[in-house]
Amino acid sequence: MKAAVLCEQPGDLVIEDLKIDTPGPQEVLIQTVGAGLCHSDLHFMEGLFRSKLPAVMGHESAGIVQSVGRDVTYVKPGDHVVACLSIFCGQCRQCLSGNPHRCSNTRATSRGRDDEPRLQRHDGTPVDQMARLGGFAEEMLIHQNGIVKVTEDVSLEKACLIGCGVTTGFGAAVKTAAVPVGATVCVIGCGGIGLSAIQGARVAGASRIIAVDMSAEKLETAKVMGATDTLNASETDDVVTAVKELTKGGVEYSFEAIGLKQTAEQAFEMLAVGGTATIVGMVPSSTKLEIRGIDFLSEKKLQGSMMGSNQFRTDIPQMIDLYLNGRLLLDEMVSATIDLEQVNEGYAWMKEGTVARTVISF
Ligand SMILES: NC(=O)c1ccc[n+]([C@@H]2O[C@H](COP(=O)([O-])OP(=O)(O)OC[C@H]3O[C@@H](n4cnc5c(N)ncnc54)[C@H](O)[C@@H]3O)[C@@H](O)[C@H]2O)c1
Ligand SMILES: [Zn+2]
Ligand SMILES: [Zn+2]
Repeated sequence: MKAAVLCEQPGDLVIEDLKIDTPGPQEVLIQTVGAGLCHSDLHFMEGLFRSKLPAVMGHESAGIVQSVGRDVTYVKPGDHVVACLSIFCGQCRQCLSGNPHRCSNTRATSRGRDDEPRLQRHDGTPVDQMARLGGFAEEMLIHQNGIVKVTEDVSLEKACLIGCGVTTGFGAAVKTAAVPVGATVCVIGCGGIGLSAIQGARVAGASRIIAVDMSAEKLETAKVMGATDTLNASETDDVVTAVKELTKGGVEYSFEAIGLKQTAEQAFEMLAVGGTATIVGMVPSSTKLEIRGIDFLSEKKLQGSMMGSNQFRTDIPQMIDLYLNGRLLLDEMVSATIDLEQVNEGYAWMKEGTVARTVISF
């Protein structure tokens, strides 16, 4: 089966023909139908975060179950599924206390060191899977706790976006930050994650949603998603002052959806008294943020959000209902649909900042 493989860091993806194993007892073999291009893969391609190599990139995918392992009862061949990297063990403290997205018991849901690898080259070299999914591939072999069954009423080329981008951004707003009705919100960065955070804030009933980006096209899309105001950071000297002026003192909730020191600090600085900044972007591990300690006396809060604090087995079907009812926009988030062979081109567009989400159609 064909897959887009990262062979060196930094490096582009190489299309290779790989061998994929049959499902182990708890595993599911999926024929991929759609895969979204998320910026996290690009961070790995650029070498900002280390990855085992070679590895099939991609972690925002949906498809149809082909076959299942002997202990799988959750799905059967023919079922439509969305994959999510928040693979839960169901047994650890985090899983059992309502936070399966924080599960770090990866051993329980991965193959062991001495087991046959899920993926390998024809010469026997083991090939890793990005986020234990490896979604830029014609087929995925995943633990059953990394998928959710979805209705056949939704196109899998749209549903795939919920696997990461929408779950992350929408969830950051409605779950991690729990934006209340009437709140004032600012979202910095309007890619797939930020646009989804804007939608989460809209569905939650925010009174004001300020979108910040450097691209005028992204800001137009942000308005479609529910932004009430837009700020072009490439034309604004001081984003923080501009947001404070628009809101007479700052926003109650801010979201950073890029992964930069400068914008993460802006997210905290633009808060009103008592406000909460949620950092969603992946800030490189060597980067430290600087904030003023005195701001804690006005009860400003700074928090992280991992995959929108999801419980994806229940959240994703809910988001699909919102989509089918016209309250969550997915079609409008897709700027381009491409073949697997065009994946590097798709990432070049992301770097240029010209696209919201690009989807690989298999
Ligand atoms: N926390 C999580 O669980 C999680 C999950 C998925 C993705 N992420 C991270 O979220 C971030 C966003 O991902 P994405 O796929 O939406 O990326 P993207 O590249 O599609 O979007 C980023 C946006 O930020 C804008 N931008 C860049 N620099 C800017 C600046 N200085 N000021 C204002 N706007 C600026 C770009 O124009 C672009 O629209 C990435 O860091 C990604 O790794 C985190
Ligand atoms: Zn992602
Ligand atoms: Zn667990």
